[in-house]
Amino acid sequence: MSSVLLTGGAGYIGSHTAVTLQADGFEPVVLDNFSNSHPLVMDRLAQITGRDMPLEQGDVLDTGWLSQVLLRHRPAAIVHFAGDKAVGESVAQPLKYFHNNIGGAVSLMRAMVQATAEGGWERPPALVFSSSATVYGDPASVPITEDFPRSHTNPYGHTKLVIEDMLAAQIAADPSWRVGVLRYFNPVGAHPSGLIGEDPEGPPNNLMPYVSQVAVGRRPFLQVYGSDYPTPDGTGVRDYIHVMDLAAGHVAAVRSLLQTPGSFTVNLGTGRGHSVLEVVRAFERVSGRPVPFRFTDRRAGDVAQCWADPTRARQRLGWCATRGLDEMCADAWRWQSRNPQGYRAG
Ligand code: WQD
Repeated sequence: MSSVLLTGGAGYIGSHTAVTLQADGFEPVVLDNFSNSHPLVMDRLAQITGRDMPLEQGDVLDTGWLSQVLLRHRPAAIVHFAGDKAVGESVAQPLKYFHNNIGGAVSLMRAMVQATAEGGWERPPALVFSSSATVYGDPASVPITEDFPRSHTNPYGHTKLVIEDMLAAQIAADPSWRVGVLRYFNPVGAHPSGLIGEDPEGPPNNLMPYVSQVAVGRRPFLQVYGSDYPTPDGTGVRDYIHVMDLAAGHVAAVRSLLQTPGSFTVNLGTGRGHSVLEVVRAFERVSGRPVPFRFTDRRAGDVAQCWADPTRARQRLGWCATRGLDEMCADAWRWQSRNPQGYRAG
């Protein structure tokens, strides 16, 4: 079986991708320092897959160690998830984001060059990079295609944009590099087993985990940030995508890089938007729980509408999202109701 190294593989998207890669016949190797994830995830992955997944515990910033990990596992592909991803925190602590996200990507790319040389490999492993729709800034229109202009409105989005540019420069310098850039829209939901899911540290920044925590009784009510946007019901519209669809997009990206020459950048979204109030109503419907909310001011940096045109992913990867909003909410609720305190309750 071809091994696939997942940096940040114990995180939310990483763990769901590990399960989906394994189901598709790959051998996932999880690399994580657990700075933003929980070791219990490894037990849960074993429960879901029926086998212990190899774990390399360490920091992607340690280039020497990372190069040895690559030589040890000789992965056919690497998926780079590791990094910090809280927009608000990135505004307060830009240096942490530049160091961990950009520094981490430089370290990984250098370790790939070192291991390829030391191992006498014909070419470096294929590389899939976890990017974000945040690189589109405030889009002039929707739906968004991959050739829309990029901009950044916060240091987190800036790091994603810089790493995309670093990868483009490396591909230009060495055409043996095979890179897939995946721009996520709004990942939500959980594996249908309810054993793994989204478990943010502290008060959730994102809508779905906050709604889940209100429904399970951890928080009294949801603040709806703005009801005066130019949208059908006045609240923000986003392209929510089930994390299992997102994981399948990663598997399709790995397969495409291994089977078809060339690199690519694609949007991973459903191609349709839902408002905050639509999400709240869907969650109440599928969970049977009330989600009380209050309208408050708009959140700084938010855009009114953002959703993907996923045509290129369908054409290049033969992938499209298949799960709708109700399934996203039902799977998110199963995870939250079975793990009211997330992984921390042990
Ligand atoms: C969605 C909608 C809010 C919370 C961010 C990052 C992006 C990616 C996904 C990392 C908006 C509203 C939210 C709340 C609310 N993360 N909302 N009350 O801002 O689209 O994207 O997360 O890659 O990079 O920018 O997602 O879930 O925070 O917000 O009303 O308590 O829900 O205003 O309209 P966002 P979100």
